[in-house]
Amino acid sequence: MIQKNRFSLKLCITVLICAFFYGSPAAMYTQSFNVPDGAATAKPVAAVPTAAQQQVLDAAQAKFDAVIDADGKIEPKDWMPEAYRKTLVRQISQHAHSEIVGMLPEGNWISRAPSLKRKAILIAKVQDEGGHGLYLYSAAETLGTSRDQMLDALHTGRAKYSSIFNYPTLTWADVGVIGWLVDGAAIMNQIPLCRCSYGPYARAMVRVCKEESFHQRQGFEALLAMMQGTPAQQAMVQDAVNRWWWKCLAMFGPPDSDSPNSVQGMRWGIKRISNDDLRQKFVDATVPQAKVLGVTLPDPDLKWNEERGHHDYGAIDWDEFWATVNGNGPCNKERLATRVKAHEDGAWVREAALAHAQKKAARQAAQQEAA
Ligand code: 3HC
Repeated sequence: MIQKNRFSLKLCITVLICAFFYGSPAAMYTQSFNVPDGAATAKPVAAVPTAAQQQVLDAAQAKFDAVIDADGKIEPKDWMPEAYRKTLVRQISQHAHSEIVGMLPEGNWISRAPSLKRKAILIAKVQDEGGHGLYLYSAAETLGTSRDQMLDALHTGRAKYSSIFNYPTLTWADVGVIGWLVDGAAIMNQIPLCRCSYGPYARAMVRVCKEESFHQRQGFEALLAMMQGTPAQQAMVQDAVNRWWWKCLAMFGPPDSDSPNSVQGMRWGIKRISNDDLRQKFVDATVPQAKVLGVTLPDPDLKWNEERGHHDYGAIDWDEFWATVNGNGPCNKERLATRVKAHEDGAWVREAALAHAQKKAARQAAQQEAA
């Protein structure tokens, strides 16, 4: 009886939400890609809920709020406000895109790694990033947006991915610096995501963070080996650090005062620590590591502030950051073109997998019918 009532409540809420937000249950929403759904050109007229419907919605909202306030987890079949769903799809899909675009700058060094050991490590790392993309696309799919929709948004330039992957990897030292600093910044941002209020994202992040930790250490170790090498190798490391440092600080996103999504994201327990606080934690953690390596971080204003108990650091070039985010960084066009080509070249694999699945399903259906 209780089960039946629960089911009816869920069904009722689902129908209500579809009717209320989409106009018709068949319409698909898109996330913040700012594009209308293919066919839905006319603006849907939102139905005004009746008093009884409003009561059901209010009850669902109250239950959602109680879970968030108690620091609990929201799961895919739970009711959730549409804005929460959209925020998650926006963030998780951007994150997934970052992982797979992030394979490109390092992938370009696999054939030129200086030893078999370094090549094996790099192949494993780049493959891990592809895996992270897959966990994250799967997590986003539980929210009702298909992988095809997300990839289409990436390939047509409507979706964002991390600014950091639009810079070139000029020398082997860049590969080490990506591990040490880029993956180091990524972990700083991603550890708190293991406590995200959305269950599938939080669980995906636990595994991602374990692997990112290996990525960061292998980068540091590769740089340490170079810093114990020739003056030319040491200079190569310093040059790479000079080129990547500021881009890594910008990776954490705009300052809190300029971050439109932060307040709501934190209220919902999606984000746990603000962009500026994470950036500060990263600077404080990295300074002593740079000392061990013997490299200089390229910031004359970087110094310990006794009063704050943190390092002060110089001004980030936000104009350069936004130009890159908006498609005008040094490698944006190249990265997107490479992604699109890889997707097109892989079409035969997807077609073969689909044909195999269809044949298998048909065989199973025939066997069941015969039995
Ligand atoms: N690059 C590109 N866009 C960025 C950005 C960056 N470094 N930082 C922020 N932005 C975008 C936001 O996506 C947002 O755009 P939108 O509203 O159109 O979606 C806009 O700038 C304003 O920023 P906000 O601070 O308001 O946005 P968020 O509250 O979403 O915070 C974030 C931004 C901190 C990146 C957050 O979305 C987040 O934590 N995402 C998950 C982690 C992630 O995506 N990391 C990317 C790197 S992954 C990686 O590096 C792979 C690893 O293998 C190395």
